[in-house]
Order: sequence, then C-alpha cells, then structure tokens
Amino acid sequence: MILVTGASGTLGGPLTRLLAEAGADVHGLSRRAREPEDGVTWHKGDLSTGEGIDAAVAGAETIVHCASDPFHTRRDVPAARLLIESARRQGAPHLIYISIVGVDKIPYSYYRTKYAVERLIEESGLPYTILRTTQFHTLPDMVLNVLTKIPGVIVLPKGLRDQPIDVGEVAERLAQLALAGGPARRADDMGGPEVLTAEEMARAYLRARGLRRPVRVPLPLFGKAIRGFRTGHHLTPGHAVGERTWRQFLDERHTRL
Ligand SMILES: NC(=O)c1ccc[n+]([C@@H]2O[C@H](COP(=O)([O-])OP(=O)(O)OC[C@H]3O[C@@H](n4cnc5c(N)ncnc54)[C@H](OP(=O)(O)O)[C@@H]3O)[C@@H](O)[C@H]2O)c1
Repeated sequence: MILVTGASGTLGGPLTRLLAEAGADVHGLSRRAREPEDGVTWHKGDLSTGEGIDAAVAGAETIVHCASDPFHTRRDVPAARLLIESARRQGAPHLIYISIVGVDKIPYSYYRTKYAVERLIEESGLPYTILRTTQFHTLPDMVLNVLTKIPGVIVLPKGLRDQPIDVGEVAERLAQLALAGGPARRADDMGGPEVLTAEEMARAYLRARGLRRPVRVPLPLFGKAIRGFRTGHHLTPGHAVGERTWRQFLDERHTRL
C-alpha cells in the first residue's frame, strides 16, 4: 500500500495515476473529502492539525510525501514531523520525499524549509529516499502568465537561469522509487534537459502564446538568495536527465488552450 500526500497537487496527481496504472494499492491524502477515483482511495486529513493522519498512514508500506504549503513556509516542518511520528508508530514505512536542487545552498525561505524537512527525514530512523529535482515547467509558466497580465514591457531579473523539468517525468521517477520498495537515501538529482536564461524562457513563452511584448532584463536584484540563484545552485547540468523541453511543454500546453 502506497500513501501519497499532496495527491491532489501538480505532482501528486500524475504520480497517483501512474502508481494506480502499475497496479499498486494507492491511497491519497487531501484536506478535502473526495470520492474514490481511478483506483485511488482517498483519506481526508490535514498535516497542520494531525486530523486523519494516523488513519491515512495505517497499513502504508511506502509514503511519498508531496504535500507542501509554499505560501506558509513555516508549516512544512511541523507537518513533516507529524507525518514521521505517525509513520514511526505504524510500522516504519519507506518515506520518500520530493525536494528541490539547491535547497542546502540557497538561503531562500521556502528552500530553508525544504532542507529542514530533508534533515528531519534523514534523522527520523525511517527508511527513506530523498529526490531533488529542478523546477517543474508549470512554475515558470505560472510566473510568466502573471507577468504578461501586467501591461507594457516584461522586465526580468538579470543573470537568472533555469533548468525546468516535466512534472510527468518526475512523477515517473518517484513511481519507480516507490515501486522498487527499498530506500535509496539520496537518489540522484534530476534536472530538465536544458539550462535556459530567463529571457530565452520568456521569449519562447510569448511565441507559444502568440503574444508580442518587449522583454528587458535590466532588473538588478540583491540579496543572498538571489546570489544563490544567480550562481546556479538550483541547477544540475550534470543530471540533465529530463527529456521534454520547455518549448515542447509550451507548445503542447498553449496549443491546447
Ligand atoms: N513546483 C516545482 O517546481 C517543484 C520542484 C521541485 C520539487 N517540488 C516539490 O514537489 C512537491 C509538490 O509540489 P506541487 O507543485 O505538486 O504542489 P501543489 O500542486 O501546490 O500541491 C501541494 C499539495 O499539498 C497538499 N497540502 C498542502 N497543505 C496540506 C496540509 N496541511 N495537509 C495535507 N495536505 C496538504 C495539497 O492538498 P489538498 O489541497 O488536497 O489538501 C496539495 O495537493 C512539493 O513538496 C514541492 O516543494 C516542486
């Protein structure tokens, strides 16, 4: 039995579908009550309060922890602690955690939280696997969608690059790790196929959407976190294992709209 937290999310959705297609007994955690669907048994539970967590964890041989609350960054650490304590009481299942490349090097508040959760898991005594990946395509797509809603020139920060990855490919890797059974501790990092500048990404986005807007990159941003991103600690060119490119993602997503 495999429990996926955050099973309703951008990553959790394709992951639960893949696991169900592979014939696993898949359970999903959500704060909302949901009807069983496509081979997934849903549990209503909240990692902020503990409501429903023991019942969801009961019987799990593997937990894939995808739930996260990036808008309330302090909540992920107590939520992970609660999940770990419940897992320890109930048979010590294999705990798989999805993290982000560079969380240990970039002092950005959400990354600090992710790194703190990684350390909790490493010290939990549970069998564990941590997979760090680069940003999913959906994240820069969402940011650029917001930027194009502001009229006029699209202004981008200077010197920023990204190595976006397809969320379906990350789901496939997590499904492999969950179905393989054994803990891998730190799995190899996973990055998208190409490192692109913010300007290249924005121009490709505008082309895919058929928008004509001037793009400028004069925005100098300061601070330790920005320095970390500018240095490229969030990139992993040595693990550019993703196949679907930013342009392929954009063409498929925006042609379908
Ligand atoms: N997005 C990226 O670029 C990226 C890159 C690398 C790694 N990651 C990591 O991948 C994971 C999933 O990201 P995502 O983009 O799929 O996130 P998402 O779409 O925002 O989904 C997050 C999920 O967390 C659940 N959740 C939030 N608070 C909860 C709580 N208190 N109790 C129970 N469930 C809770 C939500 O479920 P309900 O609303 O149904 O309760 C939601 O389905 C995160 O850990 C993220 O850090 C993301």
